[in-house]
Amino acid sequence: MSSTPLPGRISLSRFLIEQQREKGHLNADLRLLIEVVARACKRISIAVGKGALGGALGSAGTQNVQGETQKKLDVVSNELLLEANEWGGHLAALASEEMDDPHPIPHRYPKGEYLLVFDPLDGSSNIDVNISVGTIFSVLRCPDGIKDPDESSFLQPGTRQVAAGYAVYGSSTVLVLTLGDGVHQFTLDREYGDFPLTQSDLRIPEDTSEFAINMSNMRHWEAPMRRYIDELLAGRTGPRGRDFNMRWVASMVADVHRILTRGGIFIYPRDLKDPSKPGKLRLMYEANPMAMIVEQAGGAATTGLERILDVQPTALHQRVPVFLGSKNEVERVTAYHREAA
Ligand code: AHG
Ligand code: MN
Ligand code: MN
Ligand code: MN
Repeated sequence: MSSTPLPGRISLSRFLIEQQREKGHLNADLRLLIEVVARACKRISIAVGKGALGGALGSAGTQNVQGETQKKLDVVSNELLLEANEWGGHLAALASEEMDDPHPIPHRYPKGEYLLVFDPLDGSSNIDVNISVGTIFSVLRCPDGIKDPDESSFLQPGTRQVAAGYAVYGSSTVLVLTLGDGVHQFTLDREYGDFPLTQSDLRIPEDTSEFAINMSNMRHWEAPMRRYIDELLAGRTGPRGRDFNMRWVASMVADVHRILTRGGIFIYPRDLKDPSKPGKLRLMYEANPMAMIVEQAGGAATTGLERILDVQPTALHQRVPVFLGSKNEVERVTAYHREAA
């Protein structure tokens, strides 16, 4: 194992310290927060990587507030993020897909100015079949003067996020992060144990010929959604006359990472299957962090009618329709929805 960092190798810690020194939009508490979350993601990556050997596959036999049956790794990942973050003094509270209500910082620990909200294991229906899963997180400031944050303290539009990121546990473990100044990628070096910077300023091509949607819900879609997909199936072509391809991993982190890497559009629309649910994805810890990342990489992210980051949340676990990715494609399908509204 090399004893000194490779020349030109910039670890996540060094990147954050240089961002703090040169850009000033990062303070010591936020830097600590990101490093603690990255360390927790490393531990989740190890747990995920053990597969059947770790005894953590399969169902936990419990339900979360969404009415989903929790996987053991949903619960393990949630615990790892709580344990890692509650003692550092950088957070005022945490919230998670896997917890009904926000988790207060225990009185024995100091509190900080940030709120962390996360999806500890995204794509968990894929965990037992060894398909990439991930962790998604969003950082907000605790409103001034709030000593004991509750659900209402988290209900801030996505434009108020100070940082957002995800880890995707695939063939490699990749951490993608934005602090509001571009999108940067770090890859876990399992031997060295750190996350060296592997790509700066990721950019999403404005056009694409790849779309991601769960087609099995087609019969439940609204008219503008049908119009957009019918055009693709009728042979509309993308850049350089290329036919459209479809990809659907059913792990948002994997689909979004592909889009950040080579472009595309990801869609989870409102469907009429259950009118009480405007789509499946959750605003606070799936749509908002991914929307910040996508916009910071030159893409677009809407609910079909408005910018995701402008949505004023009304509940911690609320759902929104999601259209995100290559700017021109998102604008096209959003225009169809606005025409039909
Ligand atoms: P989670 O595993 O955190 O509950 O999220 C799953 C989400 C998202 O990752 C993915 O894009 C979507 O569910 C897949 O939905 P379908 O199973 O309906 O395709
Ligand atoms: Mn879930
Ligand atoms: Mn998820
Ligand atoms: Mn999840």
